Amino acid sequence: EDEQKRRLIRERIRDFPDFPSPGVLFRDISPMLKDPVAFKAAIDLLESYIKASHKNIDYIAGLDSRGFLFGPVLAQRLGVGFLLIRKKGKLPGATESISYALEYGKAELEVQKDAVKPGQKVIIVDDLLATGGTMRAACELMTKLQADILDCLVLIELSFLKGVEALKPFPLYSLLQYH
Ligand code: PRP
Ligand code: ADE
Repeated sequence: EDEQKRRLIRERIRDFPDFPSPGVLFRDISPMLKDPVAFKAAIDLLESYIKASHKNIDYIAGLDSRGFLFGPVLAQRLGVGFLLIRKKGKLPGATESISYALEYGKAELEVQKDAVKPGQKVIIVDDLLATGGTMRAACELMTKLQADILDCLVLIELSFLKGVEALKPFPLYSLLQYH
């Protein structure tokens, strides 16, 4: 059942060589998002993992922008709130920010300082882990706010880039691994 869902999701991810820059094999989730059965399969698998692994979650935090496709629907299924971790310059009020490198460039992430109270429990969600630069920056950013990071979730892990190593000691759960 779960394996069948994983197979369906994998069938709906397509590859684009040399996008957005030479040498990068881009994994495009658009066909999965277009197929309601595959999209639901991804949400179902993430939801059951979270329910089996964690309790007393305060928030799901999503990474700008593809983490916003999965985080809010998971938060609704779990009955918790959703937090925005955005690319720099998008959030009003007092913020914390952090710069980082990713597979094909660099950027800066930002969160509102009042997003969490110290000790609140957060799960961070994104579509894909490549080098882990983005997810690691998100973890460090939430740590600045003294959030308790329970877990980091992605649909796709590009294992050969060793993002899990870069993320340590923060944990990672991925639905699909590409070697
Ligand atoms: C992509 C992807 C992850 C990140 C992974 O986002 O959605 O957030 O790269 O790469 P890393 O593990 O090497 O850091 P991107 O910055 O392209 O932004 P987008 O979600 O707005 O497309
Ligand atoms: N983000 C970073 N690397 C990526 C890749 N290879 N495919 C899709 N999104 C990415």
